[in-house]
Amino acid sequence: MDIRPEDPANLPTRRRVRLLNRDDRLYHVILAQQFDRELIDHLCRISEMTRIIADARAGARFLNTILSHKRAMLYFIQPSTRTYLSFAAACQVLGMPYNDVRDPSTSSEVKGESEEDTVRALSQYFDIVIMRHPSEGFAEQMANMLNGMSRTIPILNGGSGKDQHPTQAMLDIYTLYRCFAESLADRVRQDPERNLFAGKTIAFVGDLARGRTVRSLAYLLTRYPDVRLLFVAPESLQIGEDIVEYLDRSEVDYALKFDLPEVVGECDAVYMTRLQDEHDQKGESGKIDLSRFSLTRELEPMLKKDLAILHPLPRRQELDTFYDTDPRAKYWNQMRNGMWMRSALLAYVFNVDGAILDHYYSYYNF
Ligand code: NCD
Repeated sequence: MDIRPEDPANLPTRRRVRLLNRDDRLYHVILAQQFDRELIDHLCRISEMTRIIADARAGARFLNTILSHKRAMLYFIQPSTRTYLSFAAACQVLGMPYNDVRDPSTSSEVKGESEEDTVRALSQYFDIVIMRHPSEGFAEQMANMLNGMSRTIPILNGGSGKDQHPTQAMLDIYTLYRCFAESLADRVRQDPERNLFAGKTIAFVGDLARGRTVRSLAYLLTRYPDVRLLFVAPESLQIGEDIVEYLDRSEVDYALKFDLPEVVGECDAVYMTRLQDEHDQKGESGKIDLSRFSLTRELEPMLKKDLAILHPLPRRQELDTFYDTDPRAKYWNQMRNGMWMRSALLAYVFNVDGAILDHYYSYYNF
């Protein structure tokens, strides 16, 4: 018997978002389309404040109490290093105990339990499930399934197949925020008129067809008018038609490009990605030449002085280790930013982000 609710991917986006939100807030965090400009800006500010507060002993102690009454499950049945560890670290920052399932062969699924029943069981012991899963719609289906249960808990998407990775996109946008902001005041200021992305050119490079981080980040960047997006990939790995349609509808300035050296000099940020060959049907990636889609040391003289180089990691040869100690390399910072952004998101989901804001304003000037 099929007990999963109807596949939500067939519903219009607005309806999908409505099913995931409650009382004008995100309840489940599944899709990048759930985030509007105000929320992205707000979470970047909360991330910035959290990192400042955590630096002082008294502040770290305060943060450590705000979710100590909740428990998190990290259900990560697809390989992960950064996302798993940064969520674990975020739970620790907020004092929230966590547990994990990383290997389904140790769960009752080997006794024939359905994945739905596993998630239902988790919902009885924990207050949130942070989930990484190989199937595109699984996290969303589980969120909708739990909506119908007497005890509903939020599901947070830590990577869903080839589709989306909204928390990675949030840490990416926070990283760009920090790169484009001129001062701390600029990063924590609440000013809806301020658009740090105006006039910036951001290039996505590599396997855009199957890279979920790029898909989610493209959705988020549509919230910022006057940004210019370049999608730089070989024909067979270009960004999906669904994203192109969304960009058209959002009236974003974008272009599909087929050669990195041709455009790299115009970029204020480049977002490099690896070949996602785990999604190959029959080794088709082996035939792809990525030399025109790699940030090699030979391109260095063409780069802007304040370029931001991002990569969700893990990387392969598409990003030369030559850049690792260059101040323009922001891929190391991205990981640490992720810990703060995921702390901010967890605080928001449990509605204690206001406590962080209050604490910040009572101890700091900006
Ligand atoms: C990415 C992912 O899992 O989608 N990694 C991450 O979360 N930092 C990118 C990738 O695996 O290429």
